[in-house]
Amino acid sequence: MFRSLQDDDRDLVTLNVNGQMVTARKGQSVWSAMAVAGQVETRKAALSGEARSAYCAMGVCFECMVNIDGLPNQQACLRRVADGMKVLTQDISEDTEADDAGL
Ligand code: FES
Repeated sequence: MFRSLQDDDRDLVTLNVNGQMVTARKGQSVWSAMAVAGQVETRKAALSGEARSAYCAMGVCFECMVNIDGLPNQQACLRRVADGMKVLTQDISEDTEADDAGL
């Protein structure tokens, strides 16, 4: 579906996206690395549980929230890839938010 327009191997980093090792270029957004790897689902909707994905790709809509290195609510379209980064599809619902807060 998505592919990189650059085909050289300079400045490559490797990150883990939902258990899949993904190669990306330094400076590339997490979202674009996910898309090229075929992992377009960024989060589950909090109430319906429906799969969501990036929409604006410029930091406005917040549809691209993912968990990066254990930190939830990171915008995949704005964060840049880093070597060894671990990205997970975010699955926060009303129930899990209450659990995380210790309520
Ligand atoms: S895709 Fe809209 S904020 Fe990231």
